Amino acid sequence: MRAVVYDKPFSVTIREVEKPKILHPDDVIVKVTTTCICGSDLHMYEGRTGAQAGIVFGHENMGIVDEVGEGVTLLKKGDRVVMPFNVACGRCLNCEEGKSAFCTHVNPGFAGGAYGYVSMGPYPGGQAEFIRVPFADFNALKLPPGTEHEEDFALLADIFPTGWHGVQLSGFKPGESIVVFGAGPVGLMAAYSAIIRGASEVYVVDRVPERLQKAKEIGCTPIDFSQSDAVDQILKLRDGREVDRGVDAVGYQATSGNGKTEQPNIVLESLIRVVKPTGGLGIPGLYVPNDPGAPDSAAAKGYISFPFGKLFEKGLSIGTGQCNVKSYNRYLRDLIIAGKAKPSFVVSHNLSLDEAPDAYDKFDRRVDGYTKVLLHP
Ligand SMILES: NC(=O)c1ccc[n+]([C@@H]2O[C@H](COP(=O)([O-])OP(=O)(O)OC[C@H]3O[C@@H](n4cnc5c(N)ncnc54)[C@H](O)[C@@H]3O)[C@@H](O)[C@H]2O)c1
Ligand SMILES: [Zn+2]
Ligand SMILES: [Zn+2]
Repeated sequence: MRAVVYDKPFSVTIREVEKPKILHPDDVIVKVTTTCICGSDLHMYEGRTGAQAGIVFGHENMGIVDEVGEGVTLLKKGDRVVMPFNVACGRCLNCEEGKSAFCTHVNPGFAGGAYGYVSMGPYPGGQAEFIRVPFADFNALKLPPGTEHEEDFALLADIFPTGWHGVQLSGFKPGESIVVFGAGPVGLMAAYSAIIRGASEVYVVDRVPERLQKAKEIGCTPIDFSQSDAVDQILKLRDGREVDRGVDAVGYQATSGNGKTEQPNIVLESLIRVVKPTGGLGIPGLYVPNDPGAPDSAAAKGYISFPFGKLFEKGLSIGTGQCNVKSYNRYLRDLIIAGKAKPSFVVSHNLSLDEAPDAYDKFDRRVDGYTKVLLHP
């Protein structure tokens, strides 16, 4: 079958790879109908992780069940499913407690597994014609048959739940104000979740015009940090009042206002400044313990300096980590079915698998409106 394979920094190619087989009775094989490119893939694409050549990318996958292991009870051939990016066993302590992003069973020595991602276990990605789904009863969410809402449902694999999770981690309550740093797909989903959940004010910070425009279209106040300091702008708009909650949907490759100079602590520092005393910070943006391309030797080991003293003084709480997609995906699916959520407003491109190398290049450079790319193998 054909798949998107990582070669070296800034290069992926479409290659023939072996079609996955059932390896365990709990597996299913899914014929992929939609698979998305994620900002998380870009960290690997840019050579900013330990990803080795040969890895098949793709952790945001949906499709039709094609083969069913004999231990699977809830799924049958022909079912339409979307898989959380997390691979989880459903049986360990963390899984039982709903922390499926921190499964201790599927990736020994590491809490958490995922498809097509460095360090996340032996699970090839779904930017391919087929994907093997382990512990399939636990890891596949059933969808209504047909093709309706395909773009919306595809976003249940990662970014819609992850954006929602970012808001959740911040301790947000209806009626509060919130700022989201980053208007990439995750940031836009966090902002959209905050709106669905009844935020009084949502500020969205980025420097990419098309992304800020999308934030504006859903009712947020866009803040362009290439113009001047984002926190100063927000405080000015609010007569000096801080916001209740903040979300970091940028992560360790954050830049200063010029968009070029990396400054891994800039978003954390800004959040501590702009969130009110006793407020909360949700940090779904990715930080890594090893960064081969870090701007300094501390950041290379995942040491990010930020004003902990100010955080303490303000009594802020912080929540971070990968999203436990399974905690949210069925409810978000039902919001989509009920017509109460339409996350696909972030989708900018629907392409074939063959167009993936060019899409990676453009999405990576955040040009031509490349915000969220869906591939249809
Ligand atoms: N926790 C999870 O489970 C999870 C899941 C998916 C993605 N992620 C992570 O979330 C982050 C965002 O993902 P994405 O797909 O939206 O990525 P993306 O790269 O498309 O978006 C990041 C955005 O941040 C903006 N940005 C850079 N520096 C900034 C700054 N100082 N202030 C404000 N904005 C700034 C960029 O212009 C860009 O638009 C990534 O780090 C990704 O790895 C985490
Ligand atoms: Zn993703
Ligand atoms: Zn588990």
